[in-house]
Order: sequence, then structure tokens, then C-alpha cells
Amino acid sequence: MPVPAHLPVLLEETVRALAVRPGGRYLDCTLGDGGHARAILERSSPGGELLGIDADPQAIAAAEGRLREYGGKVRLANENFADLEAICMKYDFRPVHGVLFDLGLSSRQLGDQGRGFSFQNDGPLDMRFSPDQETSAADIINQSSEAELAEMIRSYGEEPHSRQIARRIVKERPVATTLELAKIVEQAVGGRKGKIHPATKTFQALRIAVNQELGNLKSALEQAVKLLGFGGRLVVISYHSLEDRIVKQFMSRESKDCICPPGIPRCVCGHSASLSLVNKRVVTPSPEEVAANPRSRSAKLRAAERLTFADSGAEAVERLCFSIAEKRANGWRRPVLLQRLRTAFGASQLWNIPA
Ligand SMILES: C[S@@+](CC[C@H](N)C(=O)[O-])C[C@H]1O[C@@H](n2cnc3c(N)ncnc32)[C@H](O)[C@@H]1O
Repeated sequence: MPVPAHLPVLLEETVRALAVRPGGRYLDCTLGDGGHARAILERSSPGGELLGIDADPQAIAAAEGRLREYGGKVRLANENFADLEAICMKYDFRPVHGVLFDLGLSSRQLGDQGRGFSFQNDGPLDMRFSPDQETSAADIINQSSEAELAEMIRSYGEEPHSRQIARRIVKERPVATTLELAKIVEQAVGGRKGKIHPATKTFQALRIAVNQELGNLKSALEQAVKLLGFGGRLVVISYHSLEDRIVKQFMSRESKDCICPPGIPRCVCGHSASLSLVNKRVVTPSPEEVAANPRSRSAKLRAAERLTFADSGAEAVERLCFSIAEKRANGWRRPVLLQRLRTAFGASQLWNIPA
């Protein structure tokens, strides 16, 4: 059966959140079928450039065909975004105007029986994004202890029946295929109850574990900020609460100047904000998009902008002025000092280095 092409989720909202502009340089860290990449290349023309990354060689091959018309404006890297900084170094692609993560897996991967992502079709328990990864879902299911399985299903699947499921898996293994596993989970929880298949959370947990998705995301977000030019945008679309929590906490922390625990009288963390939030609230698909593409229903888009040096400079000036005024170190009154320093900072256009 032909595998359906992937429909890009929140497409218009993504392009808007990235503030795509002609001549801009963009990083698509989850290229997939290249739907978002194509829209970014269209809107950044003339002169725009895109580096598309995907761990899956099949995704790279699919996107290559769809993006061929953009010639030298697009480069594709079959790599894991956990190595984002090294990849950009290798391709000499930094700083950038925007970084996009459209997390999870594509419809193409989900519908491909041989990849083992879905319990709708029978297939080998694989679930690796890249064939270079050593550990498959079958390795985890058949080699982990009962306690390890229970902990994985609980923490990555948020599954309340994790212990029963783990016990049943250990009793029934070896488990080779997706349908075998789905049946074991169904039996462990006492059969199907609602519309959602009882194996949904266990499959999510397994996919996260196989691909180390949460650790890779945390590390890639840190790296992405370093690659953004001043005023550049970071946009992340997530599809489940564990991913979204990481993105939300990361953007919230990076948009604060102090991350000391509450109750500490004086700041000791030395942290300074590198981002400002573009949307106060998370962006979700319209009912029309969900009707046209049900896979979009759980999507959540968050966006943040890299603070310019001038922004952080101005804040630093304010803090400096407050502390100097408090100590009355040199007798200057705060507004006068503030004005002088602002003039000096503002005069330096060099700090607004275009990306
Ligand atoms: C939801 S799809 C992206 C779809 C794409 N935006 C489009 O419009 O076609 C997610 C893609 O990210 C890739 N991916 C997931 N984790 C990755 C990682 N750590 N490194 C590189 N690619 C990854 C998957 O292989 C998949 O192709």
C-alpha cells in the first residue's frame, strides 16, 4: 500500500512565528517530507537559504525530490539534531535567522509497516529514526528487566497501568512484532475500553526510549539558541505533554534574567535572559486544520526570539544603574547615569550584527 505523504502541521503559523523574510537563513531540524522547508524557502526567496536535518535517510530522500527546484539554496544533512552545533559548523551554516523543530514522526514513518511505529499494522518492533542507531524497540522490550520496563512505560508514556503491562510483557516474551505487543498490552489492562487503543501510551514510551527523544530535545534547544543571530526566532511544534513541558520550561527559563529558587534574597545565579517569548500563549491548530488533518490535533507551537545584544545590554545598564545608585558610588543620580550609558550603548550599531 502506498504510504501517505506528510501534511505539514500549523504551516502558516510556523512561517509567521519564524518571521521568515527574503534573504534569511533557516535551519529545519526535523525535515521530514520537507513541507515546512518548502514554505520557508518560498517565503525567504529571493536569496533565502535552508539547511534541512533529519536522522532518517528515507526522509532526506523524500525531501530531496520535493526541494530540488531550490538548487543550491537548500542543503540536506542526514544527521541527528542532538549534534546541532557540530552539524552547522560542518556546513558552515551560522548564525541563522530561524530554527524550527517539528517534533515526533511523520505520517510517512507512521504508515510504513516495516518501521514498526504503529500498532495499526503488523511489523517488526523497530521504531528507530535512523538505521545507524543500535537499539531497536525489540531490544528494549526483550532485554530490559520488568522494573526497567515499568519505569519506562510510566515515565515516557504516563501510563497508569505500567506495572501490569511490564509484568505481562516479561511473561509473554520474546515479542517480535507490533501486533503481538499491542495484544499483550490490551490483555494486561483488561481489554479495550474507550476510543483510544490501550497500547497508545506504551508505543509512545517505547519510541521515546528508542530514540532518546527527550534528552536529544533538551540538548538541541540549548544549542539552537547559540546558533541564532540577534533577533532570530526559535519555533518548536510538539505533540505530547512531555515534549511540550521541556520546551515550555526551556523558553521560560531562557527568558528570565534570574533563575534563583524563590525565597533567595539576592540573585546568586548569574543567569541572563537570551530569549523573549513571541507568543504568551501556546498556538494550536484551528478546528478546520484538525478536521482536515487529524494528526495535527495534539500539536502545540511555541516561539521565542533571540534577544539582541542591545536588548540585553539595555537591561544590564538598568541593573548597573540601580546598583550604582544604591551604593551612591560616584554621586551620579540614576537618571543621568542611565541616559549617558544608554546613549553610549545605542551609538554602537555594531551590536546589532545582522545574521
Ligand atoms: C513531524 S516530522 C517533520 C515533518 C516536516 N516538518 C514536514 O513538513 O514534512 C518529524 C521528523 O523529525 C525527524 N526527527 C525526529 N527526531 C530527530 C532527531 N533527533 N534528529 C533528526 N531528525 C529527527 C523524524 O525522522 C521525522 O522525519
